[in-house]
Amino acid sequence: MKTIIEPFRIKVVEPIRLTTVDERRELLRKAGWNLFAIHADDVIIDLLTDSGTSAMSAEQWAAVMRGDESYAGSPSFYRFESAVRTLMPFRHVIPTHQGRAAEAILFSIVGGPGRVIPSNTHFDTTRGNIEATGASAVDLVIPEAHAPDVRHPFKGNIDLGRLERLLADSADRIPLVMLTVTNNAGGGQPVSLANIRAAADIAHRYGKPLFIDGCRFAENAWFIKCREEGQGSRPVADIVRDMFAVADGMTMSAKKDAFANIGGWLAMNDDGLAAAARNRLILTEGFPTYGGLAGRDLEAIAVGLEEIVDEQYLRYRVRTNEYVGEKLLGLGVPIVQPVGGHAVFVDARRFLPHIPPLQYPGQALAVALYEIGGIRACEIGTVMFGLRPDGTEEAADMDLVRLAMPRRVYTQSHADYLVEVFEEVVRQRDGLRGLRIVAQPPQLRHFTARFAPLS
Ligand code: F0G
Repeated sequence: MKTIIEPFRIKVVEPIRLTTVDERRELLRKAGWNLFAIHADDVIIDLLTDSGTSAMSAEQWAAVMRGDESYAGSPSFYRFESAVRTLMPFRHVIPTHQGRAAEAILFSIVGGPGRVIPSNTHFDTTRGNIEATGASAVDLVIPEAHAPDVRHPFKGNIDLGRLERLLADSADRIPLVMLTVTNNAGGGQPVSLANIRAAADIAHRYGKPLFIDGCRFAENAWFIKCREEGQGSRPVADIVRDMFAVADGMTMSAKKDAFANIGGWLAMNDDGLAAAARNRLILTEGFPTYGGLAGRDLEAIAVGLEEIVDEQYLRYRVRTNEYVGEKLLGLGVPIVQPVGGHAVFVDARRFLPHIPPLQYPGQALAVALYEIGGIRACEIGTVMFGLRPDGTEEAADMDLVRLAMPRRVYTQSHADYLVEVFEEVVRQRDGLRGLRIVAQPPQLRHFTARFAPLS
């Protein structure tokens, strides 16, 4: 059959409250035109993030009941640890309450003033946690990643030449090399197995560990299966094991490719680093067999990890985003191509060329999507990345708007509604205006900044 259906049935539903354009204008004003300040029940389709928004399966909810809340040595921890190790065979698996907690622990140990952490592209919380220690975060993604309409099968790849040169010049300042799979900030683009292996080789030649930010590891593995030579007939779970086999550690947000609503982990092979991380964990998260999570959360993650490598699911998952992407291209809306694993990224800078980067075309588009159709999306551009540590501002590489698809939550008709809202946005395009920031914090400003529309 041609139609790729949602490979699940719906057993529990949540109502969506339908708001009007006038109501949403008023809600935007109250929220300072920051969509993070909008109440979720005032949103019709919430594409703010795919993080923590998954629908859990019947098996996951059943496992929640099995959760054992013992402070130390909970069987839920051992089921969680075993599920992680089945896919990512690291010696030490340290649960955290979410991904950024794993990052904070890792960089509190290996970061610090003068240190440099290269990656393909650091996600904002990773960058924030690195910079908070006084270290610098360096993005070395391949040049194709900066050209939204250049189709490259692995636009998340790290530039191996630049990585090698950075290590040759300043190895003594680099505690580890990172790779984000998929590369969220660069459009949810995958990293090839060949690139992961080559990056590991280079890092290891300089005696440096490779850490993978594995948030969307299953989507990355699916792209490897579909696009990389020689991988097409291999089970996704085997590809996942290969991705992590050459790494020395990982950070993870279980809120993405573990179908959980909360959770994460830090894993590594190095005993000394693990001991330091566990000490830090006890200070900030909890005892090492729960690490800031309830036993029931550990159970949900363990089952989620089994479900996420299901290939019927992954085929449907990636196809949903391709479907939306194709329709938007049909409307003349420029998007990052090819479409990413968890989201469609709209190139707002090209869509709204009359709005300069420092008037935030991405934010302007996100605001219009909400006002016109009650769709909540996320700016990934100058608002998110434009504030330098010294407080000055610069245009980000790209001004994108991310339409992130929660896992197993929305259906085909929601996707069609989204496309219709874009039709209306296209009609109103020339009248859309930029914004200015009236208040912002010194870091991670996109979460709490307040805006005012420019007239
Ligand atoms: N790394 C990547 C690549 C991420 O996308 C995220 C979160 C994190 C780390 C941090 O994980 O949220 O569990 O602390 N990304 C979410 C998003 C917030 O919307 O893309 P966390």
